[in-house]
Amino acid sequence: MISCAIVGATGLVGSTILKVLEEKKLNIDEYYLYASSRSAGNKIKFMGKEYKIEELTEDVPLKKFTYAIFAAGGEISEQYAKVFINNDTIVIDNSSKFRMVPEVPLIVPEINIKDAYDSKLIANPNCSTIQAVIALAPLHKQYRIKRIVFSTYQAVSGAGTRGLQDLIETSMGNEAKSFPYKIYNNCIPHIDSFLDNGYTKEEEKMIKETKKILKDPTIDITATCVRVPVFNSHAESINVSFEDEFDIENLRQLLANSPGVAILDDISRNIYPLNTFATSKDEVFIGRLRKDYSIKNGLNMWVVSDNVRKRSCNKCCANIRRNY
Ligand SMILES: NC(=O)c1ccc[n+]([C@@H]2O[C@H](COP(=O)([O-])OP(=O)(O)OC[C@H]3O[C@@H](n4cnc5c(N)ncnc54)[C@H](OP(=O)(O)O)[C@@H]3O)[C@@H](O)[C@H]2O)c1
Repeated sequence: MISCAIVGATGLVGSTILKVLEEKKLNIDEYYLYASSRSAGNKIKFMGKEYKIEELTEDVPLKKFTYAIFAAGGEISEQYAKVFINNDTIVIDNSSKFRMVPEVPLIVPEINIKDAYDSKLIANPNCSTIQAVIALAPLHKQYRIKRIVFSTYQAVSGAGTRGLQDLIETSMGNEAKSFPYKIYNNCIPHIDSFLDNGYTKEEEKMIKETKKILKDPTIDITATCVRVPVFNSHAESINVSFEDEFDIENLRQLLANSPGVAILDDISRNIYPLNTFATSKDEVFIGRLRKDYSIKNGLNMWVVSDNVRKRSCNKCCANIRRNY
C-alpha cells in the first residue's frame, strides 16, 4: 500500500500539488491532507472524493507514510521532516530549510533525478532557480558556463496566497500587507530579507542553488531579483558567457531538444514567452535568444515558467514515479 501525506495542502503550492497529482495519476493508493488548525476540518474535493483536512500534530508522522510532501514553510519542515524520516517516510521538501545541506540532494528531475534515488530527504529548489537551471544545464554541458547574470521579474504568487492578495488589495488602493510597498504599479527590487553584503536572500538562493544543481562552484554568478505586479509565472532575463564558442542556431536546437524546455522565439511574428501563456503549463519557455556581442561567447535569453506549478509538482511526481 503506497501512501502520501501532503503537508500544507490548503496553500498555493499545496493546492497546485493536488491539481498536478490528479492530472498525473501516480501509483499511490492513499492520500492524507494536512494543514494548520485554521483549516482543520475543512473539506476539499480531490481525486473525485471528498477529503477532510487534518491538523498536523506530533502524532501524524507515526502513521508511517511512504511519502510526505512538505509545502508549509521552513519552520514546519524543520520541526517535522526528520520525524517523518525517522518513521521511514521519504520526505520531499519545498522549503529552503535543507537545500544547501551538502548531503541533501537538490533535485530538478530534468537534470539530476538520479541523485534523489537513495535519499530519504529530497529538497526542491527555489522557483526562480528551477526554471533558470532547466535552461542552463544543457548549455553548461555543451559550452561550459563561465558567468551568469540573472535579472528576475517574479510574480506575486511566489509569495503564496498572501502575495496574490496583496496585488488585489493594493490595486484597489488598500495598504500592502505582504510586500514592503504597494506591489500594484510597482516593481520592487526586494525579495526576502537583505543580507549584510547588500544582496537579498532570494538572490543568494539563486546563486548558491544554481552552483549546487549544476555541480560547479567555479561559475561566477550574480543576480538581481525583482517582484513585479503580475499574478503568476516568473520571467527571467539570463545573460551567460561560455568558455566555448557557440553557433546560435545549434544552441537553439540544443535547447529545443532538452527536457522540459519549449522554444518560443520568432521575432518576425512577435513570438516570445509571456507570463499568461506559461501559466498552467509544465514547460520552461525560452525566447529572445541572441548573442551578447559585448562579451566573448555571450548569450542573452528570456525564460518564463509557471513558478507555482514548476516549483513542486513536477519534482514530486518524478521522484515518486521512479520509486514505484
Ligand atoms: N508560492 C511559491 O511559488 C513558492 C515559492 C518559493 C517557496 N515556496 C514555499 O512553498 C511553501 C508553501 O508556500 P505557499 O506559497 O503555498 O504558501 P501559502 O499559500 O501561504 O500556504 C501555506 C500552507 O502551509 C500551511 N501551514 C501553515 N502553518 C502550518 C502549521 N503550523 N501546520 C501545518 N500546516 C501549516 C497552511 O495551512 P492553513 O491553510 O491551515 O493556514 C497552508 O496550507 C513554503 O515553504 C514556501 O516557502 C513557495
